[in-house]
Amino acid sequence: MPQLSDATFQRISALMYESVGLSFADHKKALMSSRLALRLQRLGLSRFEDYAELLEDPDEGAEFQMAVDLLTTNETYFFREPRHFEWLQQELLSQRPRPGLSIWSAASSFGDEAFSLAMLLSDLQAQGLVNNNWSILATDISHRVLTAAREGIYPESRLRYVSPERLRRYCLCGEGPAEGQAMIKPELRTRVKFGQLNLTQPFSGLGPFDAIFLRNVLIYFDPPTKTAVVDRVLGALKPGGLFFVGTAEGRVPCKTPLQALSPGVFRKMA
Ligand SMILES: C[S@@+](CC[C@H](N)C(=O)[O-])C[C@H]1O[C@@H](n2cnc3c(N)ncnc32)[C@H](O)[C@@H]1O
Repeated sequence: MPQLSDATFQRISALMYESVGLSFADHKKALMSSRLALRLQRLGLSRFEDYAELLEDPDEGAEFQMAVDLLTTNETYFFREPRHFEWLQQELLSQRPRPGLSIWSAASSFGDEAFSLAMLLSDLQAQGLVNNNWSILATDISHRVLTAAREGIYPESRLRYVSPERLRRYCLCGEGPAEGQAMIKPELRTRVKFGQLNLTQPFSGLGPFDAIFLRNVLIYFDPPTKTAVVDRVLGALKPGGLFFVGTAEGRVPCKTPLQALSPGVFRKMA
């Protein structure tokens, strides 16, 4: 097994920090080593130094993406932290009628969060509680998760918190070789637009959104990067709009004034 030296750990950490804002404290060296070791083996490399060189090569963008994927976790599932979806529903029902509604899942991973939102909005539309003019944008830095998200096929375990009615309405459950998998029906799939976006870089032309989900991604960033990301994302939220972060992520470090409503739920002050 190749050894990751302190110097190469710092070298890869610096690269990850500068390009995508990922922050690795010293005690994360073993984690980095174990997550990348298999990749080195696949590529036939015996030294982390050679892998660092590869990551620094501007022509090796795909390998860089691969390393980001290996160093972050894409863990997600449908209706994760269900209280957040209840908050959103309550908000939408208390502010009717709305001319339109747009929501951003800002670190969407495989799209579970975005399709959960689409199921909720589609239900409300079927009940005549929101009109047809709603849209969901889902973005992530990882090309790999976005490609899978666009296909909309999930192991059924990830849909464990989806009610049987919603499963029937919005999913096609696999049979035979596809047993244990569910596919989001095309009608719902087309309601979510996926795109690649690095939250640590400035962006323009997004929003303004009525609600933003920025959940379980801030954990990767150091405090200054967290603040910059949160303020940047909040710039795309309408005043009065709801902002969601993972409940385990603690205080939201930002300059934009927010009203705390519940764990992980905030309102952008007008
Ligand atoms: C744990 S998943 C969160 C998924 C979903 N929001 C949830 O809470 O279930 C974190 C996602 O953040 C993405 N990510 C990490 N750094 C990012 C960055 N700089 N810009 C955009 N997305 C990033 C990862 O690719 C990963 O898919």
